[in-house]
Amino acid sequence: MSTPIIEIKSVNKSFRSADGSARTVLEGVDFTLFEGEIVALLGQSGSGKSTLLRIMAGLIGADSGQVAYRGLPLYGPARGISMVFQSFALFPWLTVQKNVELGLEAQGMAPEERARRAEAAIELIGLSGFEGALPRELSGGMRQRVGIARALVLEPEVLLMDEAFSALDVLTGERLRDDILELWETRQMPTKAILVVSHNIEDAVMMADRVLVFGSDPGRVREELPIRLSRPREVESQEVRSLIDTVYGLMTTGAGRVGRTPGKETRLQLGDRLPIADIARIEGILELLADEPFRGRADLPKLAEETELTDHELLDVSAALALLGFANLAQGDIVITPLGERYARAGNQERKAIFGAQVLEHVPLVAYIRHGLAQDPSGDLHEDLFLKLLNFTLDEAEAERVLSVAIEWGRYGDVFEYNFNTGVIQLPEDE
Ligand SMILES: Nc1ncnc2c1ncn2[C@@H]1O[C@H](COP(=O)(O)OP(=O)(O)O)[C@@H](O)[C@H]1O
Ligand SMILES: [Mg+2]
Repeated sequence: MSTPIIEIKSVNKSFRSADGSARTVLEGVDFTLFEGEIVALLGQSGSGKSTLLRIMAGLIGADSGQVAYRGLPLYGPARGISMVFQSFALFPWLTVQKNVELGLEAQGMAPEERARRAEAAIELIGLSGFEGALPRELSGGMRQRVGIARALVLEPEVLLMDEAFSALDVLTGERLRDDILELWETRQMPTKAILVVSHNIEDAVMMADRVLVFGSDPGRVREELPIRLSRPREVESQEVRSLIDTVYGLMTTGAGRVGRTPGKETRLQLGDRLPIADIARIEGILELLADEPFRGRADLPKLAEETELTDHELLDVSAALALLGFANLAQGDIVITPLGERYARAGNQERKAIFGAQVLEHVPLVAYIRHGLAQDPSGDLHEDLFLKLLNFTLDEAEAERVLSVAIEWGRYGDVFEYNFNTGVIQLPEDE
């Protein structure tokens, strides 16, 4: 029987938006991190993963619910819990050695002991010889190693890694991931549990004993997949490939991808997030899917490989294709619909006509803009109006991304025109 280290019960968290309204980011989140396990947390951006990690690290408080570390309520940063961030957050004017020593200094440790421990952590993470280097003299991968050394030097029981490999190129990220797994397997670090937030499905499957899929609006654990393979795992093995498939499947089922509660109908609502996918990408993937060797059906991981898109990008295009009626998603596969086939074979004018009709029918935001334009005596409206509307349900950056997707889709489908210089949206000239 494993011992719980961190227990989260019924945790809620909201933030205030710019307009003063509250936005619920986490609602009723239950999660326990047990001794001896690595857990991976996946979920679309903005679903509240970082917020949950910051709560677990004691960096911010929950609005309600319980957060316990070793059975005791967590009131602030705890010594046994360290976090590694995506941005390396190193002090540029301090050497590698000094950057790593910082946390120990804050604990009031004597200088000699500090130096000794920092050197050991630097060696552990493979940076020996670079103690005196400044961050700017290091590659991205090496900088992130410093970030990890800075967490490990504190000998944390719990290591929380927030997209720690995301800023690195693929190979560098994989190497670092494998090095951390080796430290874990060989028990060279005292860490008893690791929680990794990742946007890379392969990382999750290669590392974790459990993969959690976070749903959003508000965020909570939506799916859980135990992985009982021993480590190290072979990335090309049948088991790993099929688990990656399964996780893709979990992430594309229901309406979770576009930010809805499971079980509900998949129709979008006005203030919902849209999949972030531009026309070129939507058409590119649809053409690829229609053609050899896929002939209408593709395994998402294979498609990811073929297109070199990140998991998030591919999931977003897939969600866009599903939303627009061009494809269906099932068990980690994407399958073209008859309409999708027709679209892939059509010429430019027919494509625009199909696209426009689909967007009007399935994307309420585009239909709403169109309706607004038709009602307005001048036939034009400023985009800020719609941005304000989206700000009720999405944060500012997300609202901007979603509106720009809606505008691009609507323009392409000749639903409306848009002036990039003035931000004015208007009915098409010829109407
Ligand atoms: N300090 C904050 N103030 C206001 N909103 C925040 C704050 N931190 C996070 N949010 C919002 O909470 C939501 C979830 O953010 P986050 O936890 O960073 O998601 P993820 O890590 O899954 O991408 C986002 O909409 C984000 O803008
Ligand atoms: Mg995050």
